[in-house]
Amino acid sequence: MIWIDGPAELGGEISVQGAKNSTLPLLAAAVLCKGQSVLHNCPDLTDVETAVRILEHLGCRCTREGSDLIVDNAMVCCEVPQGLMQEMRSSIVFLGAIVSRCGEARMCFPGGCELGPRPIDLHISALQKLGVEIRESGGCLSCQAPHGIQGAYVSLAFPSVGATENLMLAAVCAKGTTIIANAAREPEISDLAAYLNRCGGRIYGAGESCVIIDGVKELFGAEHRVMPDRIVSATYMAAAAVTGGSITLRDVDNAHILPMLAPFEESGCEVRQMGGSLNIMAPRRLMPVKHIRTMPYPGFPTDAQPVVMSMAAVGRGTSIFVENIFENRYRHAEGLQRLGANIKVEGKVAIVEGVESLTGAPVQAADLRGGAALVVAGLAAHGRTQVGGVEYIRRGYEDLAGNLASLGARIIETKDDP
Ligand code: UD1
Repeated sequence: MIWIDGPAELGGEISVQGAKNSTLPLLAAAVLCKGQSVLHNCPDLTDVETAVRILEHLGCRCTREGSDLIVDNAMVCCEVPQGLMQEMRSSIVFLGAIVSRCGEARMCFPGGCELGPRPIDLHISALQKLGVEIRESGGCLSCQAPHGIQGAYVSLAFPSVGATENLMLAAVCAKGTTIIANAAREPEISDLAAYLNRCGGRIYGAGESCVIIDGVKELFGAEHRVMPDRIVSATYMAAAAVTGGSITLRDVDNAHILPMLAPFEESGCEVRQMGGSLNIMAPRRLMPVKHIRTMPYPGFPTDAQPVVMSMAAVGRGTSIFVENIFENRYRHAEGLQRLGANIKVEGKVAIVEGVESLTGAPVQAADLRGGAALVVAGLAAHGRTQVGGVEYIRRGYEDLAGNLASLGARIIETKDDP
């Protein structure tokens, strides 16, 4: 449970953790590399723990030293147990890496349903194009590449982040060249390519719509620093915005923040970007964030939509959201309404009429970023807000409550939800 006594006014400086959405594919990539890989700036999160348990099950030794995660590759197994697949949907990104390394892979469909349907059809058809034979029975996938993985031209129907990563992992040691058309352009894709290239891969164009991969024979572990988490940065920016605060974030990549700047500027915040840090100064009362349409990068990210909705909830006027990536991504709206927000959701559109102030109440996180949005709103609310479902938040935020407390919020996190 997270307990917040609001309203807060945030001030001070914190550093931003490494990116969860980069760390998970990087750990899957370690499957491909002989010897030792060292990931610096690796966040301490439950999703990262799950990825480590998958690696250990496959036969790798993982050691954490502060924010370094060291992976010694000694693969003995090509199967991910069902329990681990069900804990984290993104474990599907291990598929391409394992089948490339072992010539076969077995895993069940990732379980649960948090943001609406999250199919893996694009992952499967893309791997099939590279010559991977995939059989499906009883909710499990059995993959084989008896003749090795073959480079191919693959055009994705949608620039899926996970499918692009899976393809890169499968193709980096394939025979011949792979071309991914309509690839996802998210910065996490570039981070994965940078690591794979450091390990001996030959990937060109990552971060563009067309990625070219010349297959290499083998990869050797290397050191890599995980990129800063752009969604965590947006979360702290939103926290400063709703509290009329002024904070400085260290260890950010300012280029990655650009697609998210518009709502902060629209709402009257002053954002100053300097080298690897960012300062945000919020007005006493926010203006509306106006119009947010989530899109693949470099559009506005779906993962930042919930925390910006918390800003809209207290902005002076009307804001409109259109969620184009996931079907069920307004579950935080109910919690925000409990705090007094005026939000109407109709399919993929949400209309937010900003209110003068929110009032603390017990609320329940239903997913990771939605949970963070409730914490952000709780900082602005008068009185006590209790946020349950903190296990979702721990999947992606390293000590969210502790960091906000160090910025002056009255917030504590208790270990177990009663
Ligand atoms: C990744 C991120 C997630 C982020 C999302 C969009 C990780 C671990 N997760 O998720 O935080 O919200 O990108 O930026 O990096 N789709 C299909 N078929 C597929 C795959 C995807 O139809 O085979 C659809 C999905 O249903 C969804 C859209 O494509 O509507 C986006 O999915 P995708 O980009 O693949 O997101 P993830 O990789 O799951």
